[in-house]
Amino acid sequence: MIVTNFKTYESATGEKALELAKIHEAVAKETGADIQVSVQAVDLASIANNVSIPVLSQHIDPVGFGSATGHILPEAVKMAGAQGTILNHSEQRLEREILAKSITRAKEAGLKVIVCAESPEEGATFLEFDPDFIAVEPPELIGGDTSVSSAQPEIIENAAKLIGSEKLLVGAGVKNGEDVRTCIKLGAKGVLLASGVTKAEDPKAVLMDLANGLSQ
Ligand code: G3P
Repeated sequence: MIVTNFKTYESATGEKALELAKIHEAVAKETGADIQVSVQAVDLASIANNVSIPVLSQHIDPVGFGSATGHILPEAVKMAGAQGTILNHSEQRLEREILAKSITRAKEAGLKVIVCAESPEEGATFLEFDPDFIAVEPPELIGGDTSVSSAQPEIIENAAKLIGSEKLLVGAGVKNGEDVRTCIKLGAKGVLLASGVTKAEDPKAVLMDLANGLSQ
């Protein structure tokens, strides 16, 4: 499983986000790989209405219908066509209590949940919330040139032991098929990545390579 987080990259915002999501869809169709995109809330509907791959939100707030001006309502995310959401990304960290509420609200709205953690140990503490996936990303490697699989492979092995492979995504600096292959070999179910795709000159070529990395 490959999840590209579009973050707020210019190359992955608005019309460009839709274009990039279509490239993901094309690669998923060509390779049969499970490829998903996590996009900004304002882009959810236009993308979910125009691609067949799973579209995820980057965040939701633990609010319900009613008085919650400016928040991201989980039900609205679901109505926009999203299948799930990321929560607690390193760039959007949540207090534990808020995270617990957010996971509950996301599930009530019918959204799958990927909870991010900064270490295997922290990730393991989120198992009690029963998210669909736990994505372990060492913050110091996010957005950099060195992937977690080459800089800190022991993190992946440790995370697989503590969290279990079925729920485990890993990320930070993942850029190519070799990185993906190593992550999977060390026990991850898939990868969460961003800049390797959003900053690529030829995102389709990068995604083809990443998808090939899923087959060992
Ligand atoms: O959510 C994925 C992310 O934080 C990793 O970013 O740019 O290191 O692939 P990047």
